[in-house]
Amino acid sequence: MKFILNALMKTSLFFVGMMLMMPDFSEAKVKVLIVYFSQTGHTKAIAEDIKEELKNIEVDVEEIKSVKEYPSDKDELRKIAKEESENDTYRPEFKDINRNVQSYDLILVGSPVWWGKAPKIVLSVLETYNFSGKRVRHFVTHGGDPKDTVKEMEEACKNEISESNILVHYKWLEDDREKYNKTFKAWIEAIKTELRWIEKAELREQKRTKEIKAYPRVGKKTESRKQKGIKEIKGRFGFSKKTEQLKQKRVKEIRTELGLNKAETMSD
Ligand SMILES: Cc1cc2nc3c(=O)[nH]c(=O)nc-3n(C[C@H](O)[C@H](O)[C@H](O)COP(=O)(O)O)c2cc1C
Repeated sequence: MKFILNALMKTSLFFVGMMLMMPDFSEAKVKVLIVYFSQTGHTKAIAEDIKEELKNIEVDVEEIKSVKEYPSDKDELRKIAKEESENDTYRPEFKDINRNVQSYDLILVGSPVWWGKAPKIVLSVLETYNFSGKRVRHFVTHGGDPKDTVKEMEEACKNEISESNILVHYKWLEDDREKYNKTFKAWIEAIKTELRWIEKAELREQKRTKEIKAYPRVGKKTESRKQKGIKEIKGRFGFSKKTEQLKQKRVKEIRTELGLNKAETMSD
């Protein structure tokens, strides 16, 4: 029993050691875009934490800015946001984002909740760029009643529905850091795992492209294999000829034993 426990401990120590030695994307080729809107700073704080967590990979950050600025006065903002939320087709103009969305492996979109919905400025961006077919994950801050904001954002991206989104109560960021850290850590680790898989798939694809480029070499190999195959087939024919001779010899022997060979000769 002691021996088994000892072995188990050594094995787990070995794996922990291996994990610590594993590079955290030091050679990664993956590219991430963080694009977010934040009026009072909570969503922005998460965007910064994400950037910090992914410091070893290429991350671009874009803050969505409305051409017509939102008021800093809370009551005024609430009023404007209410009007926006009631106008389903309204899409405010945003300051240009000079990024080629297609060049990113993963896009993280951040937004607050306004009157149970995503601010229209966020929808403006999501509907302008082509996110369809891209890996998009959302981080949303709210005040306890986010309703279907994430779903609305996913629909605006015309993309597959993902489970890897995060909803954060803005109060966690202010006075329940433990809860926030725990929730954020779990989410960002899932994102990192996803990025590692993307990286692995990309490396595999690169290897395959190299192999295809080296086709003439592969062709030569195939040719020599073919020659070897022909020899084998020839050999097999040789073998079957020998078998045939042996068979005929045996038939002759049996015929002689039965006295048939003579008759045959006679009838010939
Ligand atoms: C105009 C307005 C409307 C809001 N409506 C909601 C709401 O319907 N549901 C909710 O859970 N939180 C609501 N909130 C809270 C915000 O979603 C929350 O404070 C968020 O963290 C703000 O993000 P920001 O600081 O990045 O701008 C609202 C806040 C504002 C200013």
